[in-house]
Amino acid sequence: MCPPRRFALLLVLAALAGTPRSGHADGLTRRERGDLAIRARAILETYCLECHKGDKPRPTLAILDHKALIAKDAPVPFVNLLNPARSQVIEFIEDGSMPPGGRPRPTPAELVALKEWVKAQAPRFPPAFDDHTTLEVMLDDWAAQPQDDRPHLRYLSFANLVREGRAHDLAETESRLQKALLAGSGKLVAPPEPVDDTATLFRLDLRKLGWNAIDLFVRVEKDQPRDNTYPIIPYDLILLEDPHTDTGLVGEKDALAVRLKEFLKTTDQLRPVPFLRGEWVAEVLGPGKPLTADLRSLVDLAAARAKRSPPPCGPPAHPFARAKPLEFEATTLPPLASWYTGDVTPHNDPFGLKVEVVHPLSGNKAATEVKINEPFRLRVRAERRVRFVVLKVLPTGTIGLQPVSGDDIIKPGESRLLGPPAGKPFEFASLLTGGKEETQHFVIIASDGEPPTPLLIRSRHADGPGCSENQNPVWRFVFDRANGNEKNGIVRKVVAVKVVAKP
Ligand code: HEC
Repeated sequence: MCPPRRFALLLVLAALAGTPRSGHADGLTRRERGDLAIRARAILETYCLECHKGDKPRPTLAILDHKALIAKDAPVPFVNLLNPARSQVIEFIEDGSMPPGGRPRPTPAELVALKEWVKAQAPRFPPAFDDHTTLEVMLDDWAAQPQDDRPHLRYLSFANLVREGRAHDLAETESRLQKALLAGSGKLVAPPEPVDDTATLFRLDLRKLGWNAIDLFVRVEKDQPRDNTYPIIPYDLILLEDPHTDTGLVGEKDALAVRLKEFLKTTDQLRPVPFLRGEWVAEVLGPGKPLTADLRSLVDLAAARAKRSPPPCGPPAHPFARAKPLEFEATTLPPLASWYTGDVTPHNDPFGLKVEVVHPLSGNKAATEVKINEPFRLRVRAERRVRFVVLKVLPTGTIGLQPVSGDDIIKPGESRLLGPPAGKPFEFASLLTGGKEETQHFVIIASDGEPPTPLLIRSRHADGPGCSENQNPVWRFVFDRANGNEKNGIVRKVVAVKVVAKP
């Protein structure tokens, strides 16, 4: 049964009302308390940490150890929650004894901020805003949730913004994030729930966003098996794009490794990404972004399937739409299967892989454009021996493996001219999208080992007469989760070929 209209309106207002109140008597929001904690920590770090790491021969107060700061057993508490003015940390700064000597001192405004923080009952901050700490806080929260909920919970973090000194307007980032979640789900959900005092880690329940819907994708294979469902949920599409996840987050022997494994096993994600950067999610799911439309269309598809209605048409296809190339650090997980990123190359490009379109009729001159029925090839070069696979991505988003003549090896310095297996060049017979021009892409994935085999999948959206040329199922290529083959010795190149009608 639908709730009465007025009730629905109240829900809307509640959802738009911003960050939740903290439940503390001070009337501050979670965001405001979080900002106080972040600011206080930054001030202590700047003026005190040098001597107060807590590891000196003569032990002094570990200034970023929140527990030690608020410990009640000191004669004069460092941070006095009952009588904020009588906090040693504040008193020592005020009477000029700390920091000692001619050291730089907190400004009057910073002192005020410290006092406000103490007055707000010194909301907790972590010792560091690094990924490792984020992961710890996250896994603690996750383990504390009811067992049935755990498969559906994911996390977004602002810690990198604090770490990079970009935390001045987290309220604004939070509100952009909320708009992004709304745009990508079509569901007016409550703001994401911060799980820590600094309000830099947020728990998402995928069920509320409809991003946990299953059975929306099928594998596309030559001899279609009976059950060709591919187990990917809408949220996984975000993971495919993530360029930030540090693979060195936990070492083998780290106590967190076992807990992280448990998380990844339970959530069964397409890529082993424990948490995403909230600011990045707000960006990739911004208004009008193609990924926003993809996710939204999948939520609609799930709704239609639940009602046993015919599937709706899909979103507009935007493979590699205006995509920037991406260089990844040796420690990040390369988003090789991302759909809205261009080339994906390690910082120190190991192969010097170059791919271009050439016209055999004009002495293999490089080009970016071909006409209908005009022959062309791909010229591939590498500085080291590599093996490769080629995918073709049609303007409609449809993907296919592109077999090529010859073997799958490029030798150092060699210029391979790639064409279809029969030895002839490539050629387009017609335009697919009804316009005067369109863009087809080739994706070359090269590796010095065995190149991973991409698996082609598409959503169960309708395609055909009822849908316009601009509405297509959501296509992706993915790599089998089992082989975890995203190492650094892999490069992916995206070649855009503009196809134009004959004059
Ligand atoms: C140049 C080094 C230095 C800096 C910078 C410094 N301190 Fe200290 N602080 C000390 C030393 C050394 C002691 C121990 C003094 C003693 O026992 O006589 C101390 C003692 C203290 C104590 C008493 C508890 C303890 O550890 O013995 C507090 C509280 C304190 N500092 C707060 C601060 C605060 C707050 C800041 C930053 C605003 C700060 N300090 C910056 C060197 C420093």
